[in-house]
Amino acid sequence: MIDRRRVKVLFDEATIARRNEEIAREIAASEPKDLLVVAILKGSFMFAADLIRAMHRSGLAPQVEFMHLSSYRAATVSSGQVAILRDVDSEVRDRDVLLVDDILESGRTIAFAKDLLAARGARVSTCVLLEKPGKRAVSVKPDFVGFVCPDLFVVGYGMDVAHSFRELPFIGVVEKDGDATPPND
Ligand code: IMP
Ligand code: MG
Repeated sequence: MIDRRRVKVLFDEATIARRNEEIAREIAASEPKDLLVVAILKGSFMFAADLIRAMHRSGLAPQVEFMHLSSYRAATVSSGQVAILRDVDSEVRDRDVLLVDDILESGRTIAFAKDLLAARGARVSTCVLLEKPGKRAVSVKPDFVGFVCPDLFVVGYGMDVAHSFRELPFIGVVEKDGDATPPND
C-alpha cells in the first residue's frame, strides 16, 4: 500500500481545475481548425481527459488520439532517447494538431513528437501541464503551459514514480530522500 502522507501537495485539485479552464479558453482563442488533440501517454492521460472536457466547455470539438512515447528508462533523469511505443492512427496532414504532455523538462519528448507530426504535414502546437525551467536540452517553446514547476520530481495527476501515484488527483512531491526509482512516462 502507498502511504499518501508521504506526498506533499504542490498543486491541489481546485487549482488544477481552474487552470485547465483557463488553458482551454486560451486554446479556443487561438481558433484551431479541424483540431486533433494528441495526448502523449502515459503521463498526460489525466490532464488530457480534464483538458479535453474543458475544451468542450470552451466551445471546441477536438478529435482525440494517443501516442505512447517513452524517454525515461533507467533513472529519474532523462535517458536522452525517445521511443515510439504506440503511434497515432489518424491522418494528420493539413490538420491543426495539439500535442498534450504532462511535463516539459529536457524538451526531447515534445520536440520528438512535434518533429514527427510536422514531418507528416500537421500544423503542430504544444500544451504542457508543467514546465520545468532551466532544464532544456533541446530548444522547444510550448504554446500553452499550465504551471511553472520547481525543479523537483513530481508525481500524481497521471504522473508516476515506478508506476505509483498516478491516481492522485493533485500534483505533489514524494517526501522521501535516498534512492530514486524510475518513472514510466
Ligand atoms: P523531457 O523529454 O525531458 O522533456 O521529459 C518529459 C517527460 O519526462 C515527461 O513526459 C514525463 O513523462 C517525464 N518526467 C519529467 N520530469 C518528471 C517528474 O518530475 N515526474 C514524473 N515524470 C517526469
Ligand atoms: Mg510523459
